[in-house]
Amino acid sequence: FEGKDKTKRAPVVSVMGHVDHGKTSLLDYIRRTKVASGESGGITQHIGAYHVETDHGMVSFLDTPGHAAFTAMRARGAQCTDIVILVVAADDGVMPQTKEAVEHARSAGVPIVVAINKMDKEGADPEKIKGELAGMEVIPEEYGGEVQFIPVSAHTGEGIDNLIEALLLQAEILELEASADAPAKGVVVESSLERGRGSVATVLVQNGTLRQGEMVVAGGYFGKVRAMTDEAGKQVKEAGPSIPVEILGLNGTPNAGDEFFAVADEKKAKELAEFRQTR
Ligand code: GTP
Ligand code: NA
Ligand code: MG
Repeated sequence: FEGKDKTKRAPVVSVMGHVDHGKTSLLDYIRRTKVASGESGGITQHIGAYHVETDHGMVSFLDTPGHAAFTAMRARGAQCTDIVILVVAADDGVMPQTKEAVEHARSAGVPIVVAINKMDKEGADPEKIKGELAGMEVIPEEYGGEVQFIPVSAHTGEGIDNLIEALLLQAEILELEASADAPAKGVVVESSLERGRGSVATVLVQNGTLRQGEMVVAGGYFGKVRAMTDEAGKQVKEAGPSIPVEILGLNGTPNAGDEFFAVADEKKAKELAEFRQTR
């Protein structure tokens, strides 16, 4: 199936950087202003992934709390990020976790877009940030390198549209493709047991289309997708490539980074899940 009818897909973006440099604030601002749900007041935030529709195309964000999730996913061989936004506070500078993030992105072979955040603050010095990162081989375009540095403020919203444009430009270069017309497969972002709902798993569809009612295997578990919701908690019937959704119906809680895929029938699903549990 996989080679058939490939079309352009949205980039999947992870936000990384030093503690308190504004990763969550940046995502919050984007979510508040860009999440196309029509019910912005009712957006639930427990889903660790979401997609935004912009004037120039769609972008999916993985809200990885710190680097642990990213590392765990990489350890499981899950290549689920196309682009890393490296957030650096303009009034601070390159710090240990900034360096760590650069190394993570590098070893994953994922391009970086730098967001120089907190530009609204007194003492913001974007040139200092550029110099420091250039010293680590993260070379800004204006120094002859290939990395876009975008000054932003998660408080005022300054530069956020430029940041999204930079992500979409980078996505063009990567020529990201997937086939919507195939059985769904992708990666588990997170999962938990919730009272009254059972297993709740956030999955990112990487190829194909996942539909409500389908049988899926996710890590060592399986089940029929009883219900699916988007980042706004709205019920959806299907999810295509690069779309994150929350699914109900698994018989357990798979790990972040586990792969998931749709299968034709329950017997096959059970076999495959059990096989995975014994590995
Ligand atoms: P951790 O998840 O703890 O690593 O932090 P983080 O990188 O997610 O930073 P967070 O969004 O929690 O922001 C840390 C602090 O910086 C908060 O007090 C924010 O209000 C503040 N902050 C974030 N972005 C901006 C900005 O653009 N301007 C200003 N002035 N403050 C900001
Ligand atoms: Na913080
Ligand atoms: Mg945070």
